[in-house]
Amino acid sequence: SDEWDVKICCIGAGYVGGPTMAVIAKKCPKVRVCVVDISQKQIDAWNSDKLPIYEPGLPEIVSDCVNKNLFFSTDVDGEIDKADIIFISVNTPTKTKGIGAGRAANIKNCELCARQIAKVANSSKIVVEKSTVPVRTAQAITRVLKSNDKGLDFQVLSNPEFLAEGTAISDLMAPDRVLIGGHQSPEGLAAAEKLVSVYANWVPRERILTTNLWSSELSKLVANAFLAQRVSSINSISALCEATGADVSEISRAVGMDDRIGKRFLQSSVGFGGSCFQKDILNLVYLCETFGLEECAAYWNQVVIMNDYQKKRFSQKMVAQMFNTVTGKKIALLGYAFKKDTGDVRETPSMFVLRDLLEEGARMHVYDPQVSREDMWIEMNYTCGVNHDNTPGLDESVITETDVYAACDGAHALAVLTEWDEFKTLDYERIFKSMAKPAFVFDGRNILDYAKLRDIGFEVHAIGKPD
Ligand code: NAD
Ligand code: UGA
Repeated sequence: SDEWDVKICCIGAGYVGGPTMAVIAKKCPKVRVCVVDISQKQIDAWNSDKLPIYEPGLPEIVSDCVNKNLFFSTDVDGEIDKADIIFISVNTPTKTKGIGAGRAANIKNCELCARQIAKVANSSKIVVEKSTVPVRTAQAITRVLKSNDKGLDFQVLSNPEFLAEGTAISDLMAPDRVLIGGHQSPEGLAAAEKLVSVYANWVPRERILTTNLWSSELSKLVANAFLAQRVSSINSISALCEATGADVSEISRAVGMDDRIGKRFLQSSVGFGGSCFQKDILNLVYLCETFGLEECAAYWNQVVIMNDYQKKRFSQKMVAQMFNTVTGKKIALLGYAFKKDTGDVRETPSMFVLRDLLEEGARMHVYDPQVSREDMWIEMNYTCGVNHDNTPGLDESVITETDVYAACDGAHALAVLTEWDEFKTLDYERIFKSMAKPAFVFDGRNILDYAKLRDIGFEVHAIGKPD
């Protein structure tokens, strides 16, 4: 109805669409926001008490706004038609087949959204790329939108999202910056200004950057590549630390205190995971290759190679330390999410450790406070091709536990793979007593108190630390 300043429709009710739109609704009471999705299950979950994603602070905001100025619906066509601004926030996974398989991002879902908009719109729209896309995707989106023959005007903007899972709400409430790219024409600039005015409800103007379309699209890939590169850089040093007796945490501190380097994102780990870092770097690599920039492609590809090496190195070290065999041994994996404060398991490093140890014949007991067994198997099948059909006995060799002490009971080793706060304060005396001896701890996140654990009697191995 006309009581609204602006009507927004967001296509894609996932990790980005849901929280981003909830915060816009919360901060802009006069904006009507509707998030649509083709998945009925996903929309039903958003409209229920149990949201489809775990994100601290999100349930409060959703329950404040839902059915006031925030709506979740499967009426994609109806909501597209109503809206002034349409966000495309669908998944853009790495292609698994065809040209660029394993590297190029598939923008199929984005194109489908554009086609849908072109088909059902009866008024002019601003169409915003929120998904992470290859540079110049806006050109394709614009051409698809032009297939609408009703003489409407479509302005395409790029507005990449920089939130991190687990801190999505605080990231959205106080973003370092909001980036809006548009055509440098009067109509393009006017469209960008309209989106600026939505964010300006809570984001200081000087933090809202406007650029041309291609800079905006490419900045998103570059930001993720730089962040991931820091993790791979410190992880490469962790291997050198283990070989030399240096301590990677001391190195991170010493290096990071240089303001020019900065201290964030230098936490050495079992490797980075999540749905985006690898996907976006591979996207960048593929773009470089497409333009014949082989050296640039190889440079960025090395960030992914180093991450694969780090994950592999971890499971190999576990086996080597446990007398070169884990066959038949019970091993507890503490944490399965790709980082703390999320239930997301896409590309989680835990999965690769689990896969490797299963191949060695270990009996795996997995504990994570937020991950469902169903999601674990979906991702294991999607990313590693391991499923119940091609791997008989999975249900016997992988037990998911709801009690962390049960997971460790009788185990030869425990491995911390997600940095959940609760792992810092477990009763390690009790765990030690219940474990087989020697009792091994492998800390893939460097969060435990090693002096204390060694005192109790554990044999401790961490990333980039003296054994
Ligand atoms: P997601 O898989 O959680 O959600 C995507 C949703 O889009 C799904 O619910 C799916 O059903 C829906 N969808 C797909 N095609 C559709 C269509 N044609 N019509 C209607 N709905 C459709 O994905 P996500 O994690 O929210 O990521 C979305 C995009 O944002 C990606 O490009 C990603 O790279 C980017 N991104 C993600 C994060 C993050 O933290 N997850 C952060 C920044 C950017
Ligand atoms: C990341 C970026 O931080 C976001 O800005 C971006 O919007 C998002 O990707 C995206 O495009 O999807 P996210 O993947 O949710 O966010 O989480 P991060 O905090 O970046 O962590 C990514 C991975 O790196 C995790 O597995 C984490 O454990 C690991 N990591 C991070 C380290 O191993 N060490 C560090 O110092 C930091």
